[in-house]
Amino acid sequence: MTVSYDWIMNHSGLPWLKLDVQVPTKEIYEELKNAELGDNVIYGESGYENYPPGTNLQEAGKIEKWTGFVLHGIDAYKPRACANYGYENEDDAPYQWTDRGEMCPKTKQFLIDNIPCKRFCRVRTQILGPGGFLNPHTDSDVSGLGLNISSPPKTRYLMLAAYWPKEVEFKLDEKVLPVEEGNIYMFDISKYHAVYNRSPEARWALGISADFSESHEWEDLVVRSYQKYGANA
Ligand SMILES: [Fe+2]
Repeated sequence: MTVSYDWIMNHSGLPWLKLDVQVPTKEIYEELKNAELGDNVIYGESGYENYPPGTNLQEAGKIEKWTGFVLHGIDAYKPRACANYGYENEDDAPYQWTDRGEMCPKTKQFLIDNIPCKRFCRVRTQILGPGGFLNPHTDSDVSGLGLNISSPPKTRYLMLAAYWPKEVEFKLDEKVLPVEEGNIYMFDISKYHAVYNRSPEARWALGISADFSESHEWEDLVVRSYQKYGANA
């Protein structure tokens, strides 16, 4: 059966899809770690799964477990959606490779060569520290792969699992997804999802958003990925 790109992305109801891309994971992880200069941006609340009632969460390091920095975006310290920085329209946001992105030349080249987009938007590290977790939440009110409420539908969000200890659990709609280090995924994040890091090490992912309009190469990649992996989702 031939399926269309539009059906896969917007109507299939797939909760997730792994992309058919070979990732030089070790090189990427090494570069990302070297570009971490100890001044990560705190993304938001995270914490310990079973902290006792009454714990002072700030003291317990609750808000320091979910951090990162920007490789491509407005600058290395502006990880959030462009509306937070005064750009209402993503097309007007001056996204570019940041100094941190330039510190990761293999990662940058890998993305340029393997993610066929019209334009990268935000590429940022997503570091979830040991014991950290992201509470169940949604990021889109429309169902579809890679849709995010903070971007127009031509922009889709991907996640590259750069370092993923086996005790890290990614839950989507109460199902545990078999995320494997060195793979890139799209999710339907209109569904509730949560991440728990029960390992003693930090989990590293790259969150990649890009404008995929007018990219036939991208559409071919999605169709090929669906044919290869769609039945697993
Ligand atoms: Fe999310």
